[in-house]
Amino acid sequence: MKFAILNGKIIERSEAKVDIEDRGYQFGDGVYEVIRVYNGKMFTVTEHLNRFVKSLDSIGITLPYTMDHLTKLLEDLIAKNNLQLGTIYMQITRGVTPRNHAFPSENVSPSLVAYTKEAARPLENLKIGVKTIVTEDIRWLRCDIKSLNLLGNLLAKQKAAEVGCFEAIQHRGQDVTEGSSSNIFIVKNGMIITHQSDNLILKGITKDVILQVCERNSIPVEERTFTLDEFMDADEVFLSSTTAEVMPIIEVDGKKVGDGLPGPVTKRLQEWFEQEIEKQCGALQDKILN
Ligand code: PDD
Repeated sequence: MKFAILNGKIIERSEAKVDIEDRGYQFGDGVYEVIRVYNGKMFTVTEHLNRFVKSLDSIGITLPYTMDHLTKLLEDLIAKNNLQLGTIYMQITRGVTPRNHAFPSENVSPSLVAYTKEAARPLENLKIGVKTIVTEDIRWLRCDIKSLNLLGNLLAKQKAAEVGCFEAIQHRGQDVTEGSSSNIFIVKNGMIITHQSDNLILKGITKDVILQVCERNSIPVEERTFTLDEFMDADEVFLSSTTAEVMPIIEVDGKKVGDGLPGPVTKRLQEWFEQEIEKQCGALQDKILN
């Protein structure tokens, strides 16, 4: 991708360089968002920007742009890079200042970086489902902030990758929290159960779309903690994220979920989710059920 955003300006990607004393680089002192682009249009952009501001507020950084201005900047970047299908990554850090744990007292401007990436929808995995492992959740207690500090998530994902799995599902003791980069849902007797959006998980935008779709279609949902036993005993399990959409989970720690195929509730949700994408971004060329 030829262009990127650095501090409010669209510049050549090769020119987009940050200072070694940027607090994002030194401390992970910043927050980020990943937004999906279909047909050159951002999906759920308002929801992502609202969460971005909430994450910024939680760590005491003020967004140095209006929402309209930031949206326009991102749209311009998509157009300049001629991105049709992919993602936009964006992050804001507390800025560039000599290393010191406490926040800088003088007026330091936050640094904004954004860039695009071409990315196909993971259609094969969406059709056949993915394998996962479970692992203890060793992260901090503010997982609701989309922080640049992702070491706990990275260590979990790496564990999964090393055994050829797509995702690591984290748990605190007996309670399942979320995936290393996704939210987790179980289906039992037609009921969908997913962890409540509190400080222990990220309030996923995809999760919220799924919950809205369930409400509209009278699918019963419980947002509550569920245990590893409930998880292993579920009829269906799936995960959700901006890039993975509604992804069936067919195996956990080498054991099949149900009959080892994507379940009917998950498949119906995938169809409804595609409809939501099409409402906002126009017709999808390839669909899961094609
Ligand atoms: N990850 N939980 C965690 C820990 C995540 O990192 C993500 C997303 C989600 C799902 O959130 P959403 O539906 O808003 O994408 C849940 C992004 C995609 C990433 O870090 O690349």
